[in-house]
Amino acid sequence: MNVRSTPSPKRIKRKDPNNNDQAPQVDLIIIHANELVTMDTTYGVPRVGLDMKNLAIIPDGAVAIFHDSIIFVGTTQELSANFPPSEETVIVDATNRLVTPGFIDPHTHIIFDGYRENELEMKLSGKNYMEILEAGGGILKTVKATREAPLGRLIKNGKIILNRMMDYGTTTIETKSGYGLDTENEIKSLLAAKELDIEHPIDVISTFLGAHAVPPEYEGKTDEYVELIISEMIPRIAKEELAEYCDVFCEEGIFSIDQTKKILLTAIKYGMKPQIHIDEIVDTNGALLAAELKAVQVGHMLKSNNNGLEALKKTKTIATLLPGTPFCLMLKDYAPARKMIEMGIPIALATDLNPNCWTESMQMIIALACYHMKLSPAEALTAATINAACAIERQEEIGSLELGKKADIIVFDVPNHNFLPYQFGVNLVSKVIKNGKIVVDFE
Ligand code: NIG
Ligand code: FE
Repeated sequence: MNVRSTPSPKRIKRKDPNNNDQAPQVDLIIIHANELVTMDTTYGVPRVGLDMKNLAIIPDGAVAIFHDSIIFVGTTQELSANFPPSEETVIVDATNRLVTPGFIDPHTHIIFDGYRENELEMKLSGKNYMEILEAGGGILKTVKATREAPLGRLIKNGKIILNRMMDYGTTTIETKSGYGLDTENEIKSLLAAKELDIEHPIDVISTFLGAHAVPPEYEGKTDEYVELIISEMIPRIAKEELAEYCDVFCEEGIFSIDQTKKILLTAIKYGMKPQIHIDEIVDTNGALLAAELKAVQVGHMLKSNNNGLEALKKTKTIATLLPGTPFCLMLKDYAPARKMIEMGIPIALATDLNPNCWTESMQMIIALACYHMKLSPAEALTAATINAACAIERQEEIGSLELGKKADIIVFDVPNHNFLPYQFGVNLVSKVIKNGKIVVDFE
């Protein structure tokens, strides 16, 4: 296997020889990790092709943290020689355990009210996603509930989701509006996301998805709704600095390629960066458009054609694959992940958490990616950490365990990364460290 685990010198910050008596300050150390998955970025960012298997593992690994940052990564022996703990230092013994960077979930829809648990019966009786939507279910049912919910309720709902995500090892997410579908309710949704970012330990990055569906008052008038997005929503949201990215659900019967392009070109003009939901149900040539617009990331891609994939390969766009969605929709096809990896397209994984596909667990997504898209455990872990960081352009700060990066770390109660998909459907987390603090402790 193409796994390079030789310690690289850059990982070790040695004591200053001229200042021998001053021990470096350390708040928290992790020692004796059976497998310390560093995901060291010197081996490629994002990881593509064969390098997706390269986790840069350090056996008997150790990490030292000061404030919210990583100040040492290496072996336990190296740590002992350079960072003797003081009486105040918190010591996490990771003997027999797997330690990884915190999961990054780069595509979610956590701002909503209400439930859609009844839709499973509809799916079982043979209704597909579009039929459920046309029957007033799906996104539009959630839009009705979300419009009625006050801001405080959306924040409360979001906190419950974020707490569970953190329990399962997620330390940063991207989330979208898209269940308001009018200016006031889209802004309310983005304000909820902003407040969650402030109040919750998980970092929340916001995306404007006013083009998630056509709201009932614009039924049959999609172009007029696009006009509202362009002339009113985008300028307001940009002015109030409520979203870093702009996304569109580009799909047959939702927003066409031309409408998607119009919306995203306006968003770019207003300083938001493009993302797109593409080729989920029908191939609409979404991948080609994503390449043309140099989208930062694209979601779904179940049906993307070869031309689109070839075009995307030439860009920096990250293909964020969302295997929870075909799982919940009981589809037999998943995104062609193996083909993408062979082509050298960088892939990330995300939950796509939404009222249709509701899981907080990136561990679940890793399992689905392995069992349904044939990723190896190492590839899936790469897609859920460093490549997921690239999907939200945070690869300089998070996604790997390296000097100077944020101390966002998971300690799992299993000995190695192969256990992540192997022991599925349960939470394997022992501890989660966010910004250098233990925020989840199941011991
Ligand atoms: O990414 N496909 C579009 N949007 C969401 C689903 C939203 C919903 O069903 O509520 C997705 O899967
Ligand atoms: Fe989505």
